[in-house]
Amino acid sequence: MFKIVPSLLSADFSKLKEELALVEEAECEIMHLDVMDGHFVKNITFGPIIVEAIRKLTDLTLDVHLMIENPEFYIEKFAESGSDWITFHIETVSEVGQIINKIKKYKKKAGISLNPSTPIENVEPYLSDLDLVLVMSVNPGFGGQSFIPEVIQKIKALRGFIHGNSPKIEVDGGINKENIKDVVNAGAELLVCGSAIFKADDPKAMINQLNKRVNSSKV
Ligand code: DX5
Ligand code: ZN
Repeated sequence: MFKIVPSLLSADFSKLKEELALVEEAECEIMHLDVMDGHFVKNITFGPIIVEAIRKLTDLTLDVHLMIENPEFYIEKFAESGSDWITFHIETVSEVGQIINKIKKYKKKAGISLNPSTPIENVEPYLSDLDLVLVMSVNPGFGGQSFIPEVIQKIKALRGFIHGNSPKIEVDGGINKENIKDVVNAGAELLVCGSAIFKADDPKAMINQLNKRVNSSKV
């Protein structure tokens, strides 16, 4: 079962309450929150105090994507701020298993993210411990970039490694009406969409169109 996961990065932060409400009204269940530190990626967004504020505004599942160095130092803060899922980049850490355990200690769902150039073999040893694998389909750092088509093969290969329905495969970057069906057909279940939704004239209508596009029989 696929799910559209709106990414707040492209939303209007001066009206967070309204942006979250429209995501709820469009019957999405999950909100993707991009945390960037200016080191791992060349952009800075927000930290746990904003996650905490968002937590007070919505009951949506908060899917926190940490694009930061030394994520192990911040797991506790993000857990306490009300994150539901915490995903870190495998490129940033050496003690992968310890960080997964730390996230689970706080009873949160644990995810690993892979940059477009990081092979899926790197995540294979941890698959049975993870709740999700976040496959980046752009180089992380900014919304509004173009989907890297080679990632489709990577999603298919990862799907082949996963037996059963855990971990979930989430794909992030450049997903829109034109390519969403290919991403789902490749084996992804969680589709992060930022600019496609929040830069649309009518974001709620766009969420409906993205859902319809996946369900349509047209290839
Ligand atoms: C990029 C972020 C994405 C971003 C996706 O580094 O991780 O979550 O919001 O935005 P779009 O859908 O515009 O590529
Ligand atoms: Zn993201």
